[in-house]
Amino acid sequence: MPQQDPADLTLEEKASLLSGKDFGTTKAIAGVPSMRLADGPHGLRHQDAETDHLGVHDSRPATCFPTAAAAGSSWDPEVAAEIGAAIGREARAAGVTISLGPGVNIKRSPLCGRNFEYYSEDPLLSGALGASHVRALQNEGVGASVKHFAANNQETDRMRVSADVDERTLREIYFPAFEKVVTEAHPATVMCSYNKINGVYASQHRWLLTDVLRGEWGFDGVVVSDWGAVADRVAALAAGLDLEMPGTNGITDAEIVAAVRSGELDEAVVDQSVRRVATLSQLAGPPSGTVDVEAHHALAKRLAVECAVLLKNDQAALPIAPGAEVAVIGEFAVEARFQGGGSSHVNPTRVDTALDSIRALGTSVSYARGLDDNAVEIAREAEVTVVFAGLQEIDESEGYDRDTIDLPADQVDLIRRVAAVSRRTVVVLSHGGVVALEGWHDEVDAILDCWLLGQAGGAAIADLLYGVANPSGRLAETIPLRLQDNPSYFNFPGEQGHVRYGEGVLVGYRYYETAEVEVRYPFGHGLSYTSFETSDLSVTATGDDSALVSVTVTNTGSVAGKHVVQVYVATDAGPVRRPARELRAFTKIALAPGESRTVELALDRRAFAYYDIELSQWVVAPGDYTVQIGQSAAVVVAESQITLVGDVIRRELSLDSPVQDWFGHPIVGPLITRTLSEGMTEEQASQAADSADQMRMVASLPMKQFTHFLTQSGMHLPPDALTDMIELSKN
Ligand code: BGC
Repeated sequence: MPQQDPADLTLEEKASLLSGKDFGTTKAIAGVPSMRLADGPHGLRHQDAETDHLGVHDSRPATCFPTAAAAGSSWDPEVAAEIGAAIGREARAAGVTISLGPGVNIKRSPLCGRNFEYYSEDPLLSGALGASHVRALQNEGVGASVKHFAANNQETDRMRVSADVDERTLREIYFPAFEKVVTEAHPATVMCSYNKINGVYASQHRWLLTDVLRGEWGFDGVVVSDWGAVADRVAALAAGLDLEMPGTNGITDAEIVAAVRSGELDEAVVDQSVRRVATLSQLAGPPSGTVDVEAHHALAKRLAVECAVLLKNDQAALPIAPGAEVAVIGEFAVEARFQGGGSSHVNPTRVDTALDSIRALGTSVSYARGLDDNAVEIAREAEVTVVFAGLQEIDESEGYDRDTIDLPADQVDLIRRVAAVSRRTVVVLSHGGVVALEGWHDEVDAILDCWLLGQAGGAAIADLLYGVANPSGRLAETIPLRLQDNPSYFNFPGEQGHVRYGEGVLVGYRYYETAEVEVRYPFGHGLSYTSFETSDLSVTATGDDSALVSVTVTNTGSVAGKHVVQVYVATDAGPVRRPARELRAFTKIALAPGESRTVELALDRRAFAYYDIELSQWVVAPGDYTVQIGQSAAVVVAESQITLVGDVIRRELSLDSPVQDWFGHPIVGPLITRTLSEGMTEEQASQAADSADQMRMVASLPMKQFTHFLTQSGMHLPPDALTDMIELSKN
């Protein structure tokens, strides 16, 4: 257990400890052992030490689990935990110290090329899954690297672009998933992002990496750079970035040494990062344990089953009866599309194809690759036609964004021509970023949205199609009708070095629901082969700013299934614009046919709070809150209102504060009303009583100007009295 005292090391040694040796390891120096860092989020991409990391396909075989886009759709922290634990076992067996994941960035635009690596458009869902992954991974003795901190929501110009985001939006949308992971799961490392935030590189952002991450959230691990994210090594170290990856052959280590020698950088800053890196290195060790490759493949299948979302199922087209004549069409049925491109690319231990798995379950299955085969002919003969469609790996990847959400035209053509002749048409979609369903949605009977299910996805799909398993996924992001409907449309991917997050907190369903924009399928939507009923909602305040929700769910159908209880909060309390509703708690439960279960979910203070930029704090505004149980973000099946005492907020007044703040202040308000009325003649008092409209007009006037207006009207507010009131407002 090396507890390295920086005093024992030379400055050169210390600087050298703070950057990588190569792409995937750190240096062993003076008793501090070398660490291995490897991707990633849904499977291990472990390369031999000297291999160039851009050769992403050359990693050692590892299990490819469902990607984050799929795991997000499971709405099940247990799924994320099983993925984390399994990656932990594989990492430990490979001697990997840090597994680079999970990614908890928010899906701001459906176009982001890396959306497959992120869970959701919602911060609570992303944070809950991310924290679960990290906890389970680290229980295996491997460190996590939650990434990419922060506001890394696009690939276009990702290493330079400035994400221009207001603080409330950062706090309410882009930070909470990181905050939850850091405060609840204590990741060994946090990876800073490539981009700038409001003009400053994340790697050099002191407020981000030190004030918020360490100061407010109590992070005590190592901040590691994304690979190549450091523009200025000395500025980054001073801001709170401990470890630069990959190495730079000593070039930037020498910059640190020179900065200390010239007095530009305090050596204590270097020492602090050395201590953190040395503590982290206690996780390093030789490979240990073995991996049961078959068991992990079986696990990958079991988890994939939990992730697929049944979007539509008219005429009970699914599940397919085992004896039915089935036509399978499409390339992805034989060449599975199950993961995305870039640094997260796993070299799978084995791949299940859907066609083989379907043939193992069905008795009569024909296959055509596409239209230049005999697709239309076999569809005409079959009782059910299953078309495999989606995006190719090249269509979406780390490193670039998409410019459309449409399915490729040849696939739309294929689906439509098949649907025109088939008795029942089922479409199975594989893709990382959301795809529009327009132009063919109404012509097919069922759609199973599989996202990217990992190496056992093919077998999972077959089980779901034949009812061996019951779909239980729910959308973790909205499927819009058109790309243009997305709130980031006019501000993505930005221009001339800046991307303005103009939609503020109205991201994803928060926007669609608030602006009442019709979507194809809302966030939270997903069908099952059984049905569920929600009853007996009760919501009780458990304090001034918290509540307990109790609700009963019954499986009213004839097969076992899983249901996601989604709790949203809606309010217009407080001085800021609130989204129509926000997801504040959820849980996934399994129910046998006829079974009822009552679940309780706690809503803590944060469930009701907004971030107040004037007070620099979270505030629960006194007022009414509607707690809603949603079948999705768009369909509320039960609701109940509570009134919360909330926080007592006294805003400090100044002569620049608007009249409404003065009169609305709990202490100063009554006082100023009294002072004003004491100085009025009877006539002025009766005029004032009749002038409610005028009061509305002057409500936003700064007090200073208001006093001038009063003087013009022959009224008076003594300056001393105002000064006293300003003092009073500070208490
Ligand atoms: C990616 C990270 C990844 C790192 C190491 C970077 O390009 O942005 O997510 O962990 O490479 O492979």
